[in-house]
Amino acid sequence: MAEKHKQSATGGPAAAVVLGIETSCDDTAAALVRRRPDGSAEILSNAVWTDHEDHAAFGGVVPEIAARSHVERLDIVIARAFTEAGMAVGDIDAVAATAGPGLIGGVMVGLTAGKAIAMATGAALIPVNHLEGHAITVRMTDRADYPFLLLLISGGHTQLVQVSGLGDYRRLGSTIDDAAGEAFDKTAKLLGLGQPGGPRIESAAVGGRHDRYDLPEPLKRRDGCDFSFSGLKTAVREIAERMTDEDGRMAGQDIADLAASFQFAAARHLAQRTENAMNAAGVNEGERRFVVAGGVAANCTIKAMLSSLCERKDWRLIAPPAKYCTDNAAMIAWAGAERFAAGMAPDFDEALAFAPRARWPLATPPEGRALGGGRKGPKA
Ligand code: KG4
Ligand code: ZN
Repeated sequence: MAEKHKQSATGGPAAAVVLGIETSCDDTAAALVRRRPDGSAEILSNAVWTDHEDHAAFGGVVPEIAARSHVERLDIVIARAFTEAGMAVGDIDAVAATAGPGLIGGVMVGLTAGKAIAMATGAALIPVNHLEGHAITVRMTDRADYPFLLLLISGGHTQLVQVSGLGDYRRLGSTIDDAAGEAFDKTAKLLGLGQPGGPRIESAAVGGRHDRYDLPEPLKRRDGCDFSFSGLKTAVREIAERMTDEDGRMAGQDIADLAASFQFAAARHLAQRTENAMNAAGVNEGERRFVVAGGVAANCTIKAMLSSLCERKDWRLIAPPAKYCTDNAAMIAWAGAERFAAGMAPDFDEALAFAPRARWPLATPPEGRALGGGRKGPKA
């Protein structure tokens, strides 16, 4: 074991190179990111290995298969990240590994690998909350300033969060049933489009009419910033059952129209709840920054709907490029780098003792409310 573990760089001018490791769902990912003293980022490498075929026969992510794949692939992916960056393992200042929330077997694999690398190299070790990785990706990709209003939409979570600074998060609302990505995945399954559902629905919707089916507007008569997707899913199922022939098949155009109608209704719901959050936020003009992040933020219809909302309300929309919306390790490295620079990394023994967490809420719920973690889905 290396003798001395690096301390965070508070007060020091040095740039830090951080290895990020992400294994909380079905993507095995490793990345190297340099954070310069002025707060800018250089993504030196970003390796991701995802094999949807592993899970295809089961219609969704199987935790045991995912954990086994991480064990088999993580070494290879980490080696690839170093090769892509032209760096050696001794060049890193810190290792940031996802420590939750997520599928526990996968989180154990990644966090244990991170601990081993930190012990062997003397690098600092930072257990990272996967949701914080998504939440502050835009500081790496777009140099976004704090504070900002965040819509976090992924396979396991759907939340509106006031982000006031690093580690300073207040939840304004979350889903009362399915997560947005989960709704896309289930709808895709229903339409026979396969997984992952989000990109499949988006492609199928290209040739479809979004106004052919009149889908419900969830929580229409309720104020606030919570979300609901189960009603939409049920409405799609009822229509799909009507359109299915005796052989259990739907016509291609019907699938396209239903995919487009669902995507439009989901986007409208996300935008409508976001508008409520903007109205309630009472922020100064110069601080009207709105960030959308997480896998579902890769969706162009959703981004377009949020963009017109921002134009109408005079807010600035900031969205990471699609490859940094879906799970990746650059965002984990970056979250670690910000904590390292701010002197918020735990000391080494504490980091080494950190136990993987299946659940790990990002933000505190609004006062007086006992909410779940913004469930559901494989990562909830
Ligand atoms: O952030 P992410 O990669 O993993 C989690 O942390 O959950 O998000 C995965 C989710 C999946 O449900 C996937 O179907 C959805 O993001 N997704 C999309 C798109 N790309 C990924 N949903 C809608 N449109 C997309 N283009
Ligand atoms: Zn994620």
